[in-house]
Amino acid sequence: MIIWVLANDPSLMIQPNPAISTPQTYNNPDNSVNLGNPPDRLALPVSIGILASGSGSNLEAIANTLNNATVAGLNPDTAKLSVVVYNNPNAYVQQRAQKLSIPAVLCNHREYDSREQLDAAIIEVFQQYQVDLVVMAGWMRIVTDKLINAYPRRILNIHPSLLPSFPGAKAIVQALAYGVKITGCTVHIAIAEVDAGPILQQAAVPVLPNDTLETLHQRIQVQEHIIYPQAIADYIKLLSS
Ligand code: GRF
Repeated sequence: MIIWVLANDPSLMIQPNPAISTPQTYNNPDNSVNLGNPPDRLALPVSIGILASGSGSNLEAIANTLNNATVAGLNPDTAKLSVVVYNNPNAYVQQRAQKLSIPAVLCNHREYDSREQLDAAIIEVFQQYQVDLVVMAGWMRIVTDKLINAYPRRILNIHPSLLPSFPGAKAIVQALAYGVKITGCTVHIAIAEVDAGPILQQAAVPVLPNDTLETLHQRIQVQEHIIYPQAIADYIKLLSS
């Protein structure tokens, strides 16, 4: 009864804060993220391998930013999208890759007996394309130590929440169910633990009263398409200097 009264008292309801009604972005301008042992210096242009399972809108945003040099530090002199590996034969990312003239290789997880075997096949493709940096853009498989150790601190991931809140595959559903008023997206260095690792960049996105999974995801993706190219540009600068 007390809970009902509290939940229905309008004076206790938290309203969206007008001060944060537009998304806010936070990054590591001084690259202060703790990288552990300094990575070996990478030669430019850095060869990027993309891992994707879905529609590929992040791939397209990264490719457009790179081709049009709209973010400082990310252009054909500093980076090349060498290959897209996708795991789902019907993933629209394959068509986007084709449109962007990027080779796309299917590594269908159903055809491998274990996660390690899938990762071994991915490593083989990446070696073939001389990939230096792996960018997970909507990769819906858990990666194993095999891949992490093949590319230590050279794998980036984007996640549709403000980590460490809501890791896992249902981040947006969980944010809505929990009733948070602000969520967002995070670019981080991937480690063996799922959706964990040093954070490179985040953007905050307010949750609006009538948001659905689709409307909130759409607004989060607008921010993903801004912060992912920026984070990649900053990370390449760090790895190559
Ligand atoms: C993104 O929202 C990303 O945060 C999540 O998967 C989605 C991929 O979208 N990991 P797209 O395939 O890049 O359009």
